[in-house]
Amino acid sequence: MALTTLLCTFSLAVLSYGQPETLENHNSSDLLCTCHQIAVALSGASQVFFPPASEYLLDIEHAAPSSTEASACSVEPGSAEDVSEILRILGSTRTPFAVKGGGHATNPGFSSTTGVQISMSRFNETKVNSMSETVEVGAGLTWDQVYATLEPIRVNVVGGRIPGVGVAGLTLGGGYSFLTSQYGLAVDNVAGYELVLPNGTITNVTSKDCDLWFGLRGGLNNFGIVTKFILKSYPQSETWGGLRFYAENQLDAIKGALVDFQQKNDTKAEVIVLLSYSSGQLSIGVIYFYDAPTPSRVFDGFLDVPATEGNVSTRSFSDLVQSLGSLVGNNGLRIFYHGIAVTQYSPAVFDAFVNQIKVWGARLWALDKNVTLGATLEPFDKGLFSHGSDSAYPPDRSYAVFPTDISLLWSNASLDEMMAFALRNISDTIHEAALTDGQNVRHAAVYMNYALFGTPLEDMYGGNVERLRKIRVAIDPDDVMGLAGGWKF
Ligand SMILES: Cc1cc2nc3c(=O)[nH]c(=O)nc-3n(C[C@H](O)[C@H](O)[C@H](O)COP(=O)(O)OP(=O)(O)OC[C@H]3O[C@@H](n4cnc5c(N)ncnc54)[C@H](O)[C@@H]3O)c2cc1C
Ligand SMILES: *[C@@H]1O[C@H](CO)[C@@H](O)[C@H](O)[C@H]1NC(C)=O
Ligand SMILES: *[C@@H]1O[C@H](CO)[C@@H](O)[C@H](O)[C@H]1NC(C)=O
Ligand SMILES: *[C@@H]1O[C@H](CO)[C@@H](O)[C@H](O)[C@H]1NC(C)=O
Ligand SMILES: *[C@@H]1O[C@H](CO)[C@@H](O)[C@H](O)[C@H]1NC(C)=O
Ligand SMILES: *[C@@H]1O[C@H](CO)[C@@H](O)[C@H](O)[C@H]1NC(C)=O
Ligand SMILES: *[C@@H]1O[C@H](CO)[C@@H](O)[C@H](O)[C@H]1NC(C)=O
Ligand SMILES: *[C@@H]1O[C@H](CO)[C@@H](O)[C@H](O)[C@H]1NC(C)=O
Ligand SMILES: *[C@@H]1O[C@H](CO)[C@@H](O)[C@H](O)[C@H]1NC(C)=O
Ligand SMILES: *[C@@H]1O[C@H](CO)[C@@H](O)[C@H](O)[C@H]1NC(C)=O
Repeated sequence: MALTTLLCTFSLAVLSYGQPETLENHNSSDLLCTCHQIAVALSGASQVFFPPASEYLLDIEHAAPSSTEASACSVEPGSAEDVSEILRILGSTRTPFAVKGGGHATNPGFSSTTGVQISMSRFNETKVNSMSETVEVGAGLTWDQVYATLEPIRVNVVGGRIPGVGVAGLTLGGGYSFLTSQYGLAVDNVAGYELVLPNGTITNVTSKDCDLWFGLRGGLNNFGIVTKFILKSYPQSETWGGLRFYAENQLDAIKGALVDFQQKNDTKAEVIVLLSYSSGQLSIGVIYFYDAPTPSRVFDGFLDVPATEGNVSTRSFSDLVQSLGSLVGNNGLRIFYHGIAVTQYSPAVFDAFVNQIKVWGARLWALDKNVTLGATLEPFDKGLFSHGSDSAYPPDRSYAVFPTDISLLWSNASLDEMMAFALRNISDTIHEAALTDGQNVRHAAVYMNYALFGTPLEDMYGGNVERLRKIRVAIDPDDVMGLAGGWKF
């Protein structure tokens, strides 16, 4: 250890002498030095791990194997003070790093790195404050963990819909929930943040902090590392819902039901229509959610369509979310996502989705038999953006945009570029179909938590980009957070 520290001191002196800050300039001995420097600086609450420790493997693991990278080491901070110490060291050594919450980003390098991987897993507390009707949630938790903790006391928060997704990335990016038609996005239901600023200062951010409050609500990891979220809570009764599958010959019936559903305005109701192509076949699924033990008649159009299998029932919110876990097995396959913004799932737009899923599904399946190409159509209430004030995302709250996700799974890594091309082509084609259909989507914001790497900032943050750039320069003049990947202002 003494020798390492000595060598590290030497290499740090060399490094701080104005080297450019690219990863190429950080050879593995520099990185290991930084890891050791962090290890000695931390309190007993935190720990650094090296390969092949099981903790290290867990820290770098992502939902998509294609976004797991072998970092030099991983660090699990256990206090905001230690996060501060880590950021100071990473900033002064200009070391590339990544911050991981639930690890569900599918873009490589967004929460993964070959530098220093920070895993927030030790921030795992859920504390209910019934006086202020808020819940304090640690940045390392996943939504299903939070729901399970809250279930016995019959309160809930506005968060993710599928098990495993992290509180941090979803809340810092926007956050579409089963409760969004009623209460807005996750960003509209944050009461405060505990944030470690890029220079290491620990601070609480609330609506009084004009610029940071604006930036953190959609700005992901540009403004520092969040350690805790204070979320508004709501009473939660039993719910009704689950998943049903349909034969391909019911496609028109499901389209009709979806078009009809969008005419209704029952904010307790949500459906997600899943279209998916694999092994030469289109499959259709619908996720149902109603925020009461018995649904209104809002789903009648769907429920009249005979299902091949499925499971909808009265159940707890937590159980409903858990039951959707069957949708997310990846069998070690590679995964990319892309987002498409539409204002309505009209018959023409629905047909464009089906057509693209089938055409590209077949084309890609010819190249890789493990290909699954899917779309998740998510209609919300037209007033979904009316529940919050100005924020980084969405850039325009004056009209509704549905954040449709296209997902692509495959196995052959030499096809990565082809897959990215396909996703962009699908997205462009459907965008054109929506324009042709008369939808005002020319400036409709793409949801950055679904968007494929390379998507221009303007497509996601619209007219907010310039303000966000200014805030970034003010908060992080040394561009410490630029050492971490992701959407960068
Ligand atoms: C199966 C699946 C289901 C999904 N369902 C939904 C859904 O219902 N609604 C929805 O809105 N989105 C959904 N998404 C998208 C989801 O919002 C994003 O994948 C999001 O990034 C997940 O957050 P995470 O913490 O798991 O991700 P991570 O990969 O850990 O992080 C994502 C980004 O946030 C940054 N970050 C993480 N923690 C911190 C922190 N503490 N401080 C600062 N920056 C941080 C990371 O650096 C990275 O840039 C889903 C994705 C998947 C794969
Ligand atoms: C790696 O970095 C160390 C310390 O900065 C330096 O001594 C060594 O020459 C570097 N090695 C390579 C291959 O660049
Ligand atoms: C939270 O993290 C701490 C420290 O890593 C661990 O000891 C504890 O078991 C975790 N608690 C839960 C509920 O997971
Ligand atoms: C943030 O708020 C918490 C709870 O109110 C408080 O205990 C803590 O001291 C505050 N931190 C800072 C840096 O102000
Ligand atoms: C929408 O909701 C309002 C108020 O609840 C109701 O009066 C109206 O009839 C509803 N519109 C439709 C199309 O259901
Ligand atoms: C339906 O859900 C119940 C309760 O979650 C579960 O016990 C049962 O196995 C499920 N049935 C099917 C067919 O998935
Ligand atoms: C499909 O994926 C599995 C699991 O990752 C892998 O073992 C298999 O070789 C892949 N098949 C093809 C045809 O690529
Ligand atoms: C992977 O794709 C490349 C490029 O198309 C191809 O040359 C190669 O044969 C594929 N590998 C497998 C195992 O299918
Ligand atoms: C999609 O790709 C095809 C080629 O496969 C091309 O002809 C078409 O113009 C592309 N569409 C868009 C909208 O980019
Ligand atoms: C750290 O950054 C914040 C936000 O820009 C600033 O207010 C504070 O003065 C900085 N602290 C130090 C010690 O530079």
